[in-house]
Amino acid sequence: MPSLAHHIPSVPASGIRRIYEVAVELDDVISLGVGEPDRPVAPHILAAGAAAWRDDLTNYSANGGIAPLRAAIVEKLARENRMHVEVEQVWVTMGATQGLYQAMTVLLAAGDEVLVPDPGYTTFTMNARMLEAEPVPYPLRAERGFAPDLEELESLVTEKTRVIIVNSPSNPLGVVFDEEQLRGILDFARRHDLWVLSDEVYEYFTYGRPHVSIASLDEDDRVFSVFSLSKTYAMTGARVGYLVTPPGLTATMRTVQEASISCVGMPDQFAAIAALTGDHQHVADSREHYRGNLEAACSLLDARGIRYQRPEGAFYLWVDLAYAADGDVAGWAERFLLREHVAVAPGSAFGRSGEGWIRICLAANRERLLEGLGRLPRP
Ligand SMILES: Cc1ncc(COP(=O)(O)O)c(C=O)c1O
Repeated sequence: MPSLAHHIPSVPASGIRRIYEVAVELDDVISLGVGEPDRPVAPHILAAGAAAWRDDLTNYSANGGIAPLRAAIVEKLARENRMHVEVEQVWVTMGATQGLYQAMTVLLAAGDEVLVPDPGYTTFTMNARMLEAEPVPYPLRAERGFAPDLEELESLVTEKTRVIIVNSPSNPLGVVFDEEQLRGILDFARRHDLWVLSDEVYEYFTYGRPHVSIASLDEDDRVFSVFSLSKTYAMTGARVGYLVTPPGLTATMRTVQEASISCVGMPDQFAAIAALTGDHQHVADSREHYRGNLEAACSLLDARGIRYQRPEGAFYLWVDLAYAADGDVAGWAERFLLREHVAVAPGSAFGRSGEGWIRICLAANRERLLEGLGRLPRP
């Protein structure tokens, strides 16, 4: 057999995948490992997708998406994100996953460096490696409330640095950066002439501190923003998200979109219009469900003396298990799953700074969530 592309073995496997693979072999597992919302999709979204299939709306669309969907996104961005963009800046993507990859494809060449949050969402690192770029982790430390340390960021910049990735509300930490922190990151990016790639897939799930889109503060067109319908509307399998670019990139984006996916499935795009323009009470209900789970989980962990980072957003709880993990939280999570039948994500899957921590998904049935947390060992 001929050899694969030389850089492909350097793409790291997902550390959550291993837990998933063990979990599917077991009976009656409490699943707190993957970020899958436990909410039903709202009927008006399902109906719109079903109607598109029934009416055979199954052709290719324009690369950027169907006109009414792009228009609905432009309207939403102005209303919810204080982002005032033209339709040509909006690209409907196959979830945020493809939006991130697409953005990194146009921003990074082989050998370029990209600053990625550590702990951070694993795809940032995987994408960089896919492109033969170098992911450079910037640590988010517990002692700083998991906020970026601008001095440390300065020390990580080289002449090869091209992009900084920002994820707020963050997976796995649940931290939400405020306007001042985002301005600090933008100033840093401006000083070094970097692009900013902002992942905002959890924008609708914050618990107190409001979500701010970094692009709304951008004064010199250096921010690419990625959004998704997956988490907001609990439609992870429909695969719809969108990438918002600075102006002036229409021809380039059309070409890369054509080369990668051509376009997102037409029925999914119609479902997305219904999601964006329809009633949002169900999104508010989901937020309250996650908030209730968060409160219940925190009370239980407090009562058991287990330390955690209280999230301001997303739907994860970052729990300090260093007392049990003995320097190998991935191994501990696997043994815990086999023994207690509870799947959690080992923090080390999100970067070196995650060693000793686990991520609990709060988007779960409350009773099962508390049952699972109750099986954690006491400190
Ligand atoms: C931070 C972050 N970005 C992107 C994604 C991917 O989302 P999508 O389903 O839209 O591809 C996820 C999914 O877990 C995520 O947590």
